[in-house]
Amino acid sequence: MTGVDPQSWHHGLVARWWSLFRTTGPEIEYFKKFVEAGQPALDVACGTGRLLVPYVRAGLDVDGCDASPDMVALCAQAAQAVGGSPTLSCQAMHELDLPRRYNTIIVCGGLGLGSTRDQDEQALRRLYEHLEPGGRLVLDNEVPYSNAKHWNRWPVGQRGHLPERTRPPDSRRLGPDGDEYALEPRLLDLDPLRQQEAWEISAYRWRDGELIAQERYQLTSNLYFSAELVMML
Ligand SMILES: C[S@@+](CC[C@H](N)C(=O)[O-])C[C@H]1O[C@@H](n2cnc3c(N)ncnc32)[C@H](O)[C@@H]1O
Repeated sequence: MTGVDPQSWHHGLVARWWSLFRTTGPEIEYFKKFVEAGQPALDVACGTGRLLVPYVRAGLDVDGCDASPDMVALCAQAAQAVGGSPTLSCQAMHELDLPRRYNTIIVCGGLGLGSTRDQDEQALRRLYEHLEPGGRLVLDNEVPYSNAKHWNRWPVGQRGHLPERTRPPDSRRLGPDGDEYALEPRLLDLDPLRQQEAWEISAYRWRDGELIAQERYQLTSNLYFSAELVMML
């Protein structure tokens, strides 16, 4: 590996991108069924509230937590905009320590980000301890072979091109504030033995055609096969 320490990139302009542009997706309805059936619920790694805010708007009893203060702050704003004020905490899931217990805990796209594998095991313990007896953990997992391009890099000899080169931003998106935004990720390394990827992202913001902010972050992602995750659970 390139020596990237466990970290996540959900800060600053990346957090802003999530709040402006990552607000939809089939996961919202998928997880909602579980939340409706078992309240109170906790959305772990809630981000800017893509799932949590529609649930709060629907009157469901859902708390949220996330490791990134920027994501949590934007989530609080989005909840407020729909007339809600859910209890939100800023905690990494392996250190989860909340006063409430839940009938449902959901984690969507959060396990393995910016953590060590030991921390992921610890996170599963902490999630279990935050469930009411008989409560349910609903956790998604993107298996390593879900993306053919990424999976093709696992065999020996297929990673000579890493780290990928830095590219200029591909396309811009117009925000509701009139500014334009772009994100450009690149894969730094994949270690099949450790089942870990290291990524870097460049984030850009333009106003009236002029670049007014540019930030760069890194993200590590631990990869799990389903049977492995079941054994950990
Ligand atoms: C891919 S986003 C998903 C956000 C949200 N669940 C959704 O589906 O829209 C991942 C989120 O996980 C958070 N995160 C990363 N590592 C975490 C950790 N160790 N504990 C808690 N949250 C973490 C990030 O800050 C980010 O908000």
